[in-house]
Amino acid sequence: MMRVRTPGQLNVGILASGRGSNFEAIADAIERGDISAEIKLIISDKENALVLKKGEERKIPVLCVKPEDFADADTYERTLIEAFRSAEVELVALAGYMRLVGDEFINSFPYRIVNIHPALLPSFRGLHAQRQALEAGVRFSGCTVHMVDQGMDTGPIILQAVVPVDKDDDEESLANRILAEEHKIYWRALRLYCEGRLYVEGKRVLISEKV
Ligand code: GAR
Repeated sequence: MMRVRTPGQLNVGILASGRGSNFEAIADAIERGDISAEIKLIISDKENALVLKKGEERKIPVLCVKPEDFADADTYERTLIEAFRSAEVELVALAGYMRLVGDEFINSFPYRIVNIHPALLPSFRGLHAQRQALEAGVRFSGCTVHMVDQGMDTGPIILQAVVPVDKDDDEESLANRILAEEHKIYWRALRLYCEGRLYVEGKRVLISEKV
C-alpha cells in the first residue's frame, strides 16, 4: 500500500471548462479555513468560461489555454503541465473539465489529478451522467471524487455521496440535487490530501484515521 502524500499545505490547480461552481465550493472551503490549501492557478480550455471570471474576482491567477491553438493534443497538454508546474501546483483538480487527460499529464502528477463526476462510479461514466441515470431507472445516484487514470472516469475512488432519484425528476432537478453534494465532497477529498490520509493499493483508496 502506498501513501499518496504526507500532511502539509497543498498547492492546488483548477482545470475547468464552464460554470465553476465546484471551484467556488473549494475556494470557499479554503477561505473558511476548512482546508489548508491555496489555489495557485485556474486554467480553462474555453475562453468564455464563467470559471475564469469567478477566479479573477477572487484574485486568483487565471489562464485560458485553447486546444485549437495547438498542433496536437500533446503540445496542448504540455502547455498545461508547464503552466501548473511554474505556478508550483502539486495537485490538479478537474472541476467540470470536459476532456480526457493524456498520459504525459497523468504521469506528471501521479495520483495528484482528481476529478468530480456526477454519478456513482463505475456507473454512468462519460457525458450526460445524470441523463444516463434517469434512463437506467436507478433509485439512487450521486457523485464521485476520484483520482484520474488513463481510462474515462475509471480511476481510484476517494469519496462518494448518494442522492435519491425522485419519480418527477428531470435531468436538471437531478443534476441540481447531485451538485449540492458535489460541493460538499470535493473539498473534503482535497482535505484528505492535505492531511496525508490517503493510501492507494491498485484501484482501492484507503483513508487512514485522523491522528
Ligand atoms: C459538475 O456537475 C461536474 O460533476 C460535471 O460537470 C459539472 C461542472 O459544474 N463534470 C463532469 O461531468 C465531468 N465529466 P461546475 O462547472 O459548476 O463545477
